[in-house]
Amino acid sequence: MTTRILTGITTTGTPHLGNYAGAIRPAIVASRAADADSFYFLADYHALIKCDEPLRIQRSRLEIAATWLASGLDTDRVTFYRQSDIPEITELTWLLTCVAAKGLLNRAHAYKASVDKNVEQGEDPDAGITMGLFSYPVLMAADILMFNAHQVPVGRDQIQHVEMARDIGQRFNHLFGKGKEFFVMPQALIEESVATLPGLDGRKMSKSYDNTIPLFGSAKQLKAAVSSIVTDSRAPGEAKDPDNSHLFTLYQAFSTAAQQAEFRADLLGGLAWGEAKQRLFELLDNELGEARERYNALIERPADLEDILLAGAAKARKIATPFLGELREAVGLRSFRSDLQSTQNTKKKAAKGARFVSFREDDGSFRFRLLAADGEQLLLSKNFADGKTAGQVSKRLQDGSPLDVRVDGNAFAVWLDDEAVGASPQFADAAACEQAVSQLRDALAPQPE
Ligand code: TRP
Repeated sequence: MTTRILTGITTTGTPHLGNYAGAIRPAIVASRAADADSFYFLADYHALIKCDEPLRIQRSRLEIAATWLASGLDTDRVTFYRQSDIPEITELTWLLTCVAAKGLLNRAHAYKASVDKNVEQGEDPDAGITMGLFSYPVLMAADILMFNAHQVPVGRDQIQHVEMARDIGQRFNHLFGKGKEFFVMPQALIEESVATLPGLDGRKMSKSYDNTIPLFGSAKQLKAAVSSIVTDSRAPGEAKDPDNSHLFTLYQAFSTAAQQAEFRADLLGGLAWGEAKQRLFELLDNELGEARERYNALIERPADLEDILLAGAAKARKIATPFLGELREAVGLRSFRSDLQSTQNTKKKAAKGARFVSFREDDGSFRFRLLAADGEQLLLSKNFADGKTAGQVSKRLQDGSPLDVRVDGNAFAVWLDDEAVGASPQFADAAACEQAVSQLRDALAPQPE
């Protein structure tokens, strides 16, 4: 059995080295497992909750897409798409919103933190809080439940959201499933072994601390960042303590055990910090150099990136569209047509529901229509001089002998004795026409007992 792994990346920033080691690299490695069916997407609707700068959103989507692809994500293996290219996500969000308890969302950490801050500052509790922020977990539940993900790799701050997705999904199953489980219950996956990289100053590498190392900046930028890593003041020749040096921690995240052992020994032996930095720079430049070239090439061809993401969206929608159809059906958003059909039990019976209706034209001639069970006109006969001939023709069409159907463009005609006796309306496209032909054949086929 395959495990479906799904995670979203909020598109508000530019990925840095910490994102790469902590999320991108492990996700790409996980996607290569034989039993993994991975869904990775740009959570650009989530980005809108936090950011009202269109250019930043635009830029970040492009950079994050290019980063994942340049880092080796194989879009033949995984489904890689933008959340906002899947309209079914927003539709599902509404279906879930209608079953999500407000009390549940009141307890969301992110919302509560904003409320607490407002109260602390003597503001109205909901000052500056949008419905987007409040409903954030419902949108995230839709992301997860839409594709029935088993595992959702996330940071600790997101565990509660995955739990809420379970909660909301379960409620939907209970209300509308009639014993059927529409949604799989997702598990948050916290990778304990994955590195949390320290930043330049030793605190966790994070944009909010302004201590990041750029991932795909130029070699020059990388060098400048590495040389600004904070170290202690031990002079060249003095022994360094690798275990208390975040420079060494950074080195470890990208090196083999042998390289680490050598670097450790050299630090203990008094390697100068300047040289240690040069070694770290070379290591990173080596690891990232090729990917950086791929990244720059991708960024220069945004139209190609667009195509790649649209192909990913099409792949995702192959699942999302029919599934959402089922869910709409389950809650009662049903076509009036299929409603009629569902009162007929089987396909055969539906076909039987097709009927001939004859009528008289103003000029006194007779014609008939063949209507499908749903009332759609499949065929309109030619004009017959009298009702009897019209009746004979409609009988012969039902006598089980092979039908002579001739398709012309998006319409067809039915022939009998070298003469077209009826014609279909013009259909919207070839597929609709083809479907009508098969409905016609079904309707006129001899019915089994
Ligand atoms: N909220 C997540 C974050 O900020 C991003 C995200 C959106 C996500 N939808 C998701 C993660 C679905 C996992 C699954 O990190």
